[in-house]
Amino acid sequence: METVIYGENLSFSYKEKEILKDINFAIKKGERVGIVGESGSGKSTFLRLLAGLLSPTGGVVSVAGETSAEGIIKKISMVMQDAMLMPLTIKENITLGKDVPVSRIEEVIKATKLDKWIDSLEYGIDTYLGDRANEISGGQAQRIAIARAMLKDADIILLDEPTSSLDKETTTEVLEALDRLMEGKTVVHVTHHPDLLKGYDRIITVKEGRFYE
Ligand SMILES: Nc1ncnc2c1ncn2[C@@H]1O[C@H](COP(=O)(O)OP(=O)(O)OP(=O)(O)O)[C@@H](O)[C@H]1O
Ligand SMILES: [Mg+2]
Repeated sequence: METVIYGENLSFSYKEKEILKDINFAIKKGERVGIVGESGSGKSTFLRLLAGLLSPTGGVVSVAGETSAEGIIKKISMVMQDAMLMPLTIKENITLGKDVPVSRIEEVIKATKLDKWIDSLEYGIDTYLGDRANEISGGQAQRIAIARAMLKDADIILLDEPTSSLDKETTTEVLEALDRLMEGKTVVHVTHHPDLLKGYDRIITVKEGRFYE
């Protein structure tokens, strides 16, 4: 299988603080890779580099043949630790303004178990999130981000603790939705819960700026 994500002598520093040191890795199409490691070890930093949200301070990172942020962003779906919601309606936050059939939107809302909550809102899916951001729970925000990723349907899925703000019951349900999202895709999944990585092809541990497999 072809390599779709790779890093060559990849380094990253925040100012003088070196987080990742001269890392080499290759991820093949369709592989599921788990990333584990202590808090602060650089897992989210690594994922942000893969997502094009950060640029390497040394070496190269390549995702689906792209090395620029503009190129990479089109090729990936991501759910990050902090769901990135914009001052838009729920619907716009899920579709990112794209013209999508209502049936497809309803599908991802059901899959992420957002339907009950959205139905309870006066304006439903057209509820504006801008000035209500504080009224939205971390779990709801996270599920909106997952719904957005499902709708985008990219071949590469980047996950950073996608269920960290959810209770046990919702976690189980959302994990089922994530399983469907990940079917047949290349997945890089950062988590503190190794039990979520059962059946993965590889587990990488990040320690003191380096990768151990
Ligand atoms: N914007 C920033 N500026 C400076 N340092 C940062 C910044 N973001 C993160 N760091 C530092 O970089 C290191 C790696 O952070 P990162 O978020 O990648 O860790 P992590 O492995 O994802 O941790 P966690 O498991 O807690 O999510 C930490 O020491 C953190 O304090
Ligand atoms: Mg993190």
